[in-house]
Amino acid sequence: MIQTIRGFRDILPEEAPLWQRIETIAADIFRNFGFQEIRIPIMEKTELFARSIGEATDIVEKEMYTFPDRKGDKLTLRPEATASIVRSYIQHKMYAADPVRKFYTVGPMFRRERPQKGRYRQFYQIDAEVFGIASPYIDAQLIQILNELFQRLGLSGLKAHINSLGCPECRPNFQKALLDFLSARKEALCDNCIRRMEKNPLRTLDCKVPTCRQALEGAPTTLDHLCPDCSTHFDTVQSTLKAQNVDFIVDNTLVRGLDYYSRTAFEILTTALGAQSAVAGGGRYDALVQELGGPQIPAIGFAIGFDRLVHIVEQLDQQKGNEGPDLFLLALGDKAMENCHIWSSQLNLSGFRTEMDYSGKSLKSLMKRAGKRNARNVLIVGDAEMEANALVLRNMEARTQTTISLDDPVGEIKKLISNI
Ligand code: HAM
Repeated sequence: MIQTIRGFRDILPEEAPLWQRIETIAADIFRNFGFQEIRIPIMEKTELFARSIGEATDIVEKEMYTFPDRKGDKLTLRPEATASIVRSYIQHKMYAADPVRKFYTVGPMFRRERPQKGRYRQFYQIDAEVFGIASPYIDAQLIQILNELFQRLGLSGLKAHINSLGCPECRPNFQKALLDFLSARKEALCDNCIRRMEKNPLRTLDCKVPTCRQALEGAPTTLDHLCPDCSTHFDTVQSTLKAQNVDFIVDNTLVRGLDYYSRTAFEILTTALGAQSAVAGGGRYDALVQELGGPQIPAIGFAIGFDRLVHIVEQLDQQKGNEGPDLFLLALGDKAMENCHIWSSQLNLSGFRTEMDYSGKSLKSLMKRAGKRNARNVLIVGDAEMEANALVLRNMEARTQTTISLDDPVGEIKKLISNI
C-alpha cells in the first residue's frame, strides 16, 4: 500500500473543524487590525529563499526541498512565507500608492527536518507581515495580536520571549565581540559553527550541539551592543507591551533561525508539546525589501505554527472534556422544567456546556447529581424562585450565590458563568 511521505500527513475530516475554527478567529482578528489576505505560490526560484533566509542557515543549508525543473531552473518548495510576500510586494510595486500594507496568509510550508510530534516536513503557518511602519508600536501590536489569538482560543501559559538583534549600525560591534569570544573557544566548537563563524557568526548562537551550547555560555549578547536608536526602540516595545498587559520576558539568547532580522525578534514558547518549542516566531526585517530589489521600506511580521497550535488546543479540549459542565440547571416543578429546558438549549447554542435533570427529583438529590457531575455552577429554579423573580445561581468553586431576575435570565447567566 502506498502511504504518505515521511513527515507529511493528512488532516482528517474529524480534525478539520478545529483548523477552520482557528482560521476563522485569526481572520477576524486580522480584519480588525487592518490586514488583507494575500495568497502566494507554493514554489519560488531557489535564489529568493537563499538570499533572504540566508545561505548559512539550517533552512537553506539542509532543509529545503530544491530541485531542477525540466528546463534546469532551480526551484524550491517554500520553507516560509515572508520571502514570497516581500517578492510579491516588490514585484507588484505595492508600495507605489502607499508603502503601508498589512498582509496575512495561511498555507503549507516545507522543511526537511527530523519529524516528531509538532514537527513535520509539510507544516502550516498563519503568517502576517506589515510593510512601511518603522515605529516600535507596531512591533508591540504584532505580539499583542498573537496574545489576543491565544487568549480567544483559551490558551494560557504562553509567554512571548523578545530580544533586539540590533541594526547595521550596531551589529558590527557585536559581531566583533562575538568573533573574539568564538576565536578563544574554537577548539570546543563543531565544524558547522567554525564554518559559520566566517559567514555569519550570529548563527553559531543558534547551534543545537550540546558541547557548542556549553562553550557559548556567557557569549556577548546583542543587547549589550545596541546603538542608542535600537535601544530606545526596544524600550518602547517593552513599555507598550506592559501598558497593554501583554506578558513577555526579555531573552537575550533569542537569535531566530533566519538571517533577515534586525531590531525586535520574538518567539512564543510552550512546553505543551513536550520539550520546549516555539508556537510562533517573528521579528523586524527593515533591510530585506531593499536587499531583494525594492525601495528602502521597513517591515515586520510573524508566523504561527498552525499544526502546533492545533495540537495545543486539542490537548486543552481533551482536558476540558473531563471537566464538568459550565452550568447544571436544577428544575423543581413543571413550569421550572419548561423554562430550564429552553434556557439550557439557548446556552448550548451560545457555546456553553450545560446539563439538566428531567426526573423531577428533590432539590437534595439534584444537588447531589450536580456535585457528582462536577458542575461549575448550578441554577436553582423552583416555583418559589420564579414567583419571587429571583433565581439562584450558585458558583460551586467560589461558593458564592447571585440572584437573577426573570427579565433576561440567559443574558445574566452568560455574563456570570463566562467570568470564571
Ligand atoms: P520560523 O520561526 O521559522 O519563522 O517559523 C514560525 C513557526 O512555524 C515556528 O515557531 C513553528 O511554530 C512553526 N514551524 C517551523 N517549522 C516547523 C515544522 N517543521 N513543523 C511544524 N511547525 C513548524 C518563520 O518562518 C518566519 N517567516 C516568521 C516571520 C514572518 N518573520 C517575519 N515575518
